[in-house]
Amino acid sequence: MIPAPSGLSIRPAVDTDIDALFEICLRTAADGTDGSALFSDPRLPGYIWSVPYARFEPDFAFVLADGARAIGYVIGTPDTEAFDRRLAADWWPDIRAKVAGMVPTRPRDAMALSRIASPEASEPWLLAEYPAHMHINILPDAQSSGWGKRMIETELAALKAHGVAGVHLGVSPANDRAKGFYRHIGFEDISRDGHVLFGMKFRT
Ligand SMILES: CC(C)(COP(=O)(O)OP(=O)(O)OC[C@H]1O[C@@H](n2cnc3c(N)ncnc32)[C@H](O)[C@@H]1OP(=O)(O)O)[C@@H](O)C(=O)NCCC(=O)NCCS
Repeated sequence: MIPAPSGLSIRPAVDTDIDALFEICLRTAADGTDGSALFSDPRLPGYIWSVPYARFEPDFAFVLADGARAIGYVIGTPDTEAFDRRLAADWWPDIRAKVAGMVPTRPRDAMALSRIASPEASEPWLLAEYPAHMHINILPDAQSSGWGKRMIETELAALKAHGVAGVHLGVSPANDRAKGFYRHIGFEDISRDGHVLFGMKFRT
């Protein structure tokens, strides 16, 4: 655990953080801002971008905690291909059953349902050089206080200790703030084919 004067701390995610992981994902799902109006089921973004990481990669899932409450997370996997296979077997079938019959009514329902029905596979060139990937989201009140950088450092340390060659992350094209943040903390812009991607290599 990393304590700090503010009283916030970074700690491994635990089962009781799951509701917070859904909530934080929803409240940052509109290109980094509140996506509550975009999804008719508030769990849709978390099914895709947060909760499966805590469940299947607990050694790489950390939260920013205010007391017992998680107000941010950084999550990832050292092996994107293996993670995708695990989700195909043990996650997506249950989630597809939960959303079966859902009729898209809000702006991003259809996109989320499509991602659940047909999860995106990463390009071979990306996985060859940057086999790990990660996500970070912090609720607004705790943004811009250095926690994002500290949480990224926590995730990178875990990935490096695992011996991965490099890590990538995808960014919504409209999320200029996140793009500036990743550049500032040392990620390289490796965008290609219309996908905004940042990467960091750990060894050559
Ligand atoms: C993006 C996010 C993770 C950044 O975390 P944060 O806690 O706000 O950022 P920090 O305060 O840790 O910033 C760390 C450093 O990056 C710099 N920085 C932050 N945003 C920047 C930007 N847009 N351009 C340039 N530098 C930036 C800070 O000035 C700080 O610099 P310093 O260490 O030299 O003082 C956080 O704002 C967030 O969760 N946003 C909403 C969700 C989101 O967009 N997630 C990313 C999805 S891809």
